[in-house]
Amino acid sequence: MPARGKYVETWRALEKLYADGRARAIGVSNFHVPHLRRLFDETGIVPAVNQVELHPRLQQKALREFHAEHGIVTEAWSPLAQGSLLSDATLTALAAKYGKSPAQLVLRWHLQLGTVAIPKSVTPSRIRENFDVFDFELAEDDLAALAEFDDGTRTGPDPDTFSS
Ligand SMILES: NC(=O)c1ccc[n+]([C@@H]2O[C@H](COP(=O)([O-])OP(=O)(O)OC[C@H]3O[C@@H](n4cnc5c(N)ncnc54)[C@H](OP(=O)(O)O)[C@@H]3O)[C@@H](O)[C@H]2O)c1
Repeated sequence: MPARGKYVETWRALEKLYADGRARAIGVSNFHVPHLRRLFDETGIVPAVNQVELHPRLQQKALREFHAEHGIVTEAWSPLAQGSLLSDATLTALAAKYGKSPAQLVLRWHLQLGTVAIPKSVTPSRIRENFDVFDFELAEDDLAALAEFDDGTRTGPDPDTFSS
């Protein structure tokens, strides 16, 4: 559910579906902390998940911490920054160190961060490649190097333009 319009009322409708057993979990998308606080204040169920734009260039640290505090799963949309990251020289070199592609490096970073990442690809070989990320682990110093990529770049619309 997006943070638009009468989202509190919409959330109450989703809560009813959940209470009736017609939804196993209910969640939101592109919510900022004030949107989530408003749901906490005015409704009864904490969202299971908040799907937001998240990739090495937009790491959403404060929001992720808030989610962790309240038991909300962080799900990344555009987890590969729509592919725009994948030709970066530093990232490519880091990926080569692990014998992996830049996309696999970024997806492994998501896994180790604890975010749910669902990359989109129409290319069967890439879809296979994107699953092959469970046989290596990024070292702490490489995670620290990836933390440096966070410059706030968005690839999608800025949810700040949404109503509160
Ligand atoms: N909630 C929201 O507001 C919101 C907004 C935007 C997107 N989303 C969702 O987020 C999901 C993914 O986001 P996204 O499509 O924007 O971006 P993304 O998953 O970050 O990137 C997709 C792009 O990366 C390429 N790619 C995928 N795997 C690759 C690989 N292994 N090597 C090289 N290139 C690779 C794809 O190319 P090919 O397809 O040509 O292989 C495509 O161009 C979608 O399911 C979308 O519905 C949600």
